Parts: sequence; structure tokens; C-alpha cells
Amino acid sequence: MKHVNAYITAHQERFLDELYALLRIPSVSANPAYREDVFRCAAFVADSMKSAGLELVEICPTPGFPVVYGEKIIDPALPTVLIYGHYDVQPAEPFELWHSPPFEPTLKDGKIYARGAADDKGQFYMHVKAVEFMIATNSLPCNVKMMIEGEEEVGSDNLGNFCRENKKRLEADVILISDTSMVANDVPSIDVGLRGLSYLEVEVTGPNRDLHSGVYGGAVANPINTLCKMIASLTDENNHITIPGFYDSVAEVSIEDREAMAQIPFSESEYKADLDIEEVQGEQGFTTIERTSIRPTLDVNGIWGGYTGEGSKTVLPSKAYAKISMRLVPNQTSDEITAKFKAHFEAIAPKSVKVEVRPHHGGEPVVTPTDSVPFKAASAAMETTFGKKPIPTRGGGSIPIVALFEKELKCKTVLMGFGLDSDALHSPNEHYGVFNYLKGIETIPWFFHYFKEMN
Ligand code: BES
Ligand code: MN
Ligand code: MN
Repeated sequence: MKHVNAYITAHQERFLDELYALLRIPSVSANPAYREDVFRCAAFVADSMKSAGLELVEICPTPGFPVVYGEKIIDPALPTVLIYGHYDVQPAEPFELWHSPPFEPTLKDGKIYARGAADDKGQFYMHVKAVEFMIATNSLPCNVKMMIEGEEEVGSDNLGNFCRENKKRLEADVILISDTSMVANDVPSIDVGLRGLSYLEVEVTGPNRDLHSGVYGGAVANPINTLCKMIASLTDENNHITIPGFYDSVAEVSIEDREAMAQIPFSESEYKADLDIEEVQGEQGFTTIERTSIRPTLDVNGIWGGYTGEGSKTVLPSKAYAKISMRLVPNQTSDEITAKFKAHFEAIAPKSVKVEVRPHHGGEPVVTPTDSVPFKAASAAMETTFGKKPIPTRGGGSIPIVALFEKELKCKTVLMGFGLDSDALHSPNEHYGVFNYLKGIETIPWFFHYFKEMN
């Protein structure tokens, strides 16, 4: 494994050029206008797996976008690592806020700027290159399987079925994912938890048509005003969520674990400066790190209705809408929280309006143990390449498939991510450090090495 550094030095330019080519494909899964590009991206991923030396590479169709699969089985008696990632990306809008075009990767100050640079193209491609190194130098210690999907950013609707239909093919001893962040480049960390998600849309209807706001205003409920009041009432003055039973199944985190979290290097002043905010806000009694990892949340992701065009139009609208997400923690479940939200939202609606709650996708929260072989192998790998033991952290984002993998494949996941929270995931000017990209390629073979040794 120690030859990995020499291999990276020798092939660094090519590793970057290949990633740039991948980043030039606008594989936006949410927007049908990019449909062909998403398929083109799947083909690119398949070709890259073949070039790396993987076998039985297949672009597996699903009712949505394909899953790209490849494997290299060197000895069925050896342990098998299943790598998961996603080649689809979030929409790049608003385009005007990008300093360089989102699908023309631009290197600046050691960072690659492009949509998907960190989430997740730059991160899954590290695995393709690490596997290339291990196969090319005859140093692959375990069997490897790789599945890269194209629908993560839209909820992985077809992956559950794919796993059920391909149980045998996906059999593995561990699932390795790089789709999360570290604390800092000099503070390596491994996420041992992810939040779950309930996502829904609400529609509030007042009068049966848009009305003149002078003729009717004051006498008929305005659904936008009503929706705002309803949303405002979902949290109290301490920023606790008021939905009855919302916290019933929330697992309390032990004092020791909270003390350990308090040791994670974090500067609130830098956090505020980075976001241009005067003050943080959140649930009373919890720190910023806790609020974004071990506590559930409720956020409006979008709200619309009425007239939003140029100038003004005096209108009392008939309808108002919002998209609302709740991040969940163990042992909340997406179905439970969605049902509680729906019942509560319908109950608080005044008689003057009608409401409809439409659930979108969901995902379950996860916590993974720190005393397992996969965690220890990832920890040893990062310690080898960073020169520091990584600290266990809990991620605030969601990768719904992790809980599903556990359920369908009965297989544990290790989240060895190399990004940073400041990489602007899902935001304009997303970027990924060249340091992080190369460090990942260097570390992954060590994971394989230790995982085999410890098994
Ligand atoms: N890679 C992210 C999740 C993530 C980011 C976890 C940083 C931990 C730290 C993933 O691509 C993502 O964005 N997931 C979505 C969920 C999905 C159902 C749309 C999310 O968290 O919003
Ligand atoms: Mn991701
Ligand atoms: Mn994402």
C-alpha cells in the first residue's frame, strides 16, 4: 500500500483531468431537461470502472436512472467491500451566483469548483482511482464491488428494489461510502450517524378563486397569511417543535457523548463570519454541533403563492404552498413523523381554509458503532494517511439508502467522507479540495488493507 503515494504523484494530472470530464456532464437528476446527460453520465461511470480494471461492469436500468455496477472478485474466500456513491447532482440554480460556470470545472486556490465536485462525483471517483491503483499494482487485498447510483439527490426511489432484486450480487462484508464531511483537513473525522428525513408539501386553499384584495380583503382568509401563521406556530419561543409527540421517540444522547461532542474543534465566530450572520439560533439547551446532528429539526424549504412577478398586483390569492422538511434522529421514523405532522397540520387549520398535506420522500436516521471492524479499519486508514486518529462525529445530512442497506442487505456501512461542510454542497460555487481528492485516493487502499487484516 505504501506505493500509493508514488502512483498518485505519477498519475495526478490524469486523475484531475478525468474528474473534470466527469464534472462537465450536467447529471442533474431532479430536472427532466438533463435526462440525456444523466444517462450519458452513467455511461461515463461504466467506462471509468472498466478502465480501472473492474469486471462485469453493467449499466443496470431501473424505472428511473440506472445504477452502474462493477466488481473484481479475486478470491471468494476473502472479505468483500461494496462501494456506494452517486453520480447525480443537485440543480445548479441560481446560475448567476456562480463565479465560474457550474459545469465547467475551474481550479482556484487548490479547489475544484463545479456542481457535484464534492457531492458526490469528486468523492466516488476517488474510489474508482483507488481501485485502479490496487488492480494495476496487484495489491487488491479484498474483493471489491462498486455500485454508483443516479437518483440519490431525488430520494433513491428505485434503489430499494434494486437491492432486493440483486441481493446475491451485492453480498458484501461492509459498505464503504464517501459522501460526508470531515471536521477540517487537519481534523479527520468519520461520521457514525446520519439524520433521517420527512419531506412533504402543503397546500392551503382559501376562496375558490383569486380575489380583488380591496373588495374582499379583510373578510376572507388569505391562505398565504394563514399558512405563515400555521408554520410559525410549529415552533415555540425556545425553538422546540410543537407537533404533539414529535419528540416521543427521540433517543437522548448520554452526557459522556455530549461531552465528547463538545471537544470537537468548532469556532462559532468563524461559523457566523462564514455565513454573514450576527447570531446563531436553534433549539434551546443545545449547542450548534448538537443542533445539527443529534436533534431533529423542521425547516421550510420553499414557500409560494399569489403574485410574485414584476411590480404589484392587488390580489387575495386562492392558494398558498410550502415544502417542509424535518430532519430526524434515532429512534424517530419517517412514517411516524410524517403522520404526526399531517394530523397536527390538519388540526391547526382554521375553518376558513382547507389544507392538504402531501408526503414526498423519506429516509430513516442511522447510528453506527465505533467498536466495529469497519469503523476500526477506516480509523486506522485515516490515521495512517493523516497522521492523526479521526474523531467520530454525527452528520446532519441524510443518505436514506444507508438504513435501507442495513435492512435489505443486512450489511453495515462505514461513512469515510473526505469533504468539508464548507464545500458549498447544494449551494452555488460548490467545490472540493485537490488535497481532499488525493487524500481520499491515498486513504482508500489503506482501508482495504486494514479491513482484510482485521477480518
Ligand atoms: N451527501 C449528502 C448527504 C450528506 C452531506 C450527509 C453532508 C452528511 C454530510 C447527500 O447527497 C444529500 O444531499 N442527501 C439529501 C437527502 C436526499 C433524500 C435528497 C439531504 O441530506 O438533503
Ligand atoms: Mn451526496
Ligand atoms: Mn447531496
